[in-house]
Amino acid sequence: MYAFAISDVIYCLHADIQTTDLFEGIWPIKDGVSLNSYVVKGDKIALVDLVKDWSQAPKQIAEALTSIGIDFTSIDYLILNHIEPDHTGWLREFRALNPHCEILSTDKGCKLIKSFYKIEAGVRAVKDGDTLDLGNGQTLAFIETPNVHWPETMFTWHEASGALFSCDAFGSFGALGERVFDDAFADEEIAFFEKETLRYYANIVSSFSLFVEKAIQKTRHLAVKLIAPSHGVVWRKNPQKIIDLYVKYASYAKGPAEKEIAIVWGSMYGNTKAGLDAVIRGIEAEGAPYAIHRVPDEDPSYVLADAWKSSALVIAMPTYEYAMFPPMAYIIDLFKRKRLFGKTVLRIGSFGWIGGAKKEYEAAIEPLKWNNLKSYEWAGFPSEEDLVALEACGRELAQSVR
Ligand SMILES: Cc1cc2nc3c(=O)[nH]c(=O)nc-3n(C[C@H](O)[C@H](O)[C@H](O)COP(=O)(O)O)c2cc1C
Ligand SMILES: [Fe+2]
Ligand SMILES: [Fe+2]
Repeated sequence: MYAFAISDVIYCLHADIQTTDLFEGIWPIKDGVSLNSYVVKGDKIALVDLVKDWSQAPKQIAEALTSIGIDFTSIDYLILNHIEPDHTGWLREFRALNPHCEILSTDKGCKLIKSFYKIEAGVRAVKDGDTLDLGNGQTLAFIETPNVHWPETMFTWHEASGALFSCDAFGSFGALGERVFDDAFADEEIAFFEKETLRYYANIVSSFSLFVEKAIQKTRHLAVKLIAPSHGVVWRKNPQKIIDLYVKYASYAKGPAEKEIAIVWGSMYGNTKAGLDAVIRGIEAEGAPYAIHRVPDEDPSYVLADAWKSSALVIAMPTYEYAMFPPMAYIIDLFKRKRLFGKTVLRIGSFGWIGGAKKEYEAAIEPLKWNNLKSYEWAGFPSEEDLVALEACGRELAQSVR
């Protein structure tokens, strides 16, 4: 892969990761992910963010450096906006190749560099507002943005060009291939990256939405002309588009979100599904948009993304061993960990003898403070009365997203 010129002194280098590995060991990346680094050239050369040894990423970055006539030994400063190993895993190997390069990160970042990589010498802590003069009129400034999504994170800012190197903020899943800029992709490709931005947001940063908002607030006064994240598209034609998307997704942490319903269901023998079909008839009668996800068949990564953006949820599951259907218990646990607040929710399900899912469910969702319309249960197959009641529940939920 070659380097993409952002200006005559700034380049985007990216490694496309195509793997069956899960991102963070949890999230599927069937369309890959890119690890983006950036070179800024003054008299001295800075590299912003590194990679881990994954899908030949160091080789991909080395080739991109070669395409602009430099190599890892040419780098004078390595700026680490974030120490998560997707951007630093190859640090010891880099250091061995280039022992003279100074590594810059926040104070917390330097502590993580020490604990993760046992590197202390040649590491400099930078603070909010500090600058790095590369010579030849090129200066970088550092903006601390804690907890997006690790505590040590920062943005790096190149005032002269208006480029914001934002690391994970404004990032998305999805490999880039031979293009990196938003204006190089067709509308449907940008729509794909928007979807993968939502999934990345919901999976990786959603718990830290308050800090995402603070970070964005902190850059409001800057004349940002280009958003250069560490994953996904480089936004130069329309940087505001990705800023607005992140503002919107962060706002969903408090609700309300989009006027849509995410239906999540699991069923062993079809009794719960028969009740859910009645709920869906009610939703359809009201004309409310919905998406449907069966667990455990569908990966939780996608369920979480859709639930994050929806104002209302249907959770349909039977009782299993005096408690919730286990795959749904995992989904609800994930919703709690990802702080999925502000939803209007209908839960339904069948039981065989004395139930148990309802009690565990109601205790489990208590901290989420959802507007819990009902947890409607029936024994075995739903009766005619149950079906009428369930259809009415569907209508009521649909009316909540009007
Ligand atoms: C492995 C297993 C465990 C179950 N545990 C309970 C239980 O603890 N309490 C209960 O009331 N019913 C229990 N049931 C009965 C189911 O809840 C009941 O058959 C229900 O109708 C299943 O709904 P479904 O067809 O949507 O899977 C269990 C069923 C299975 C297969
Ligand atoms: Fe990260
Ligand atoms: Fe990352």
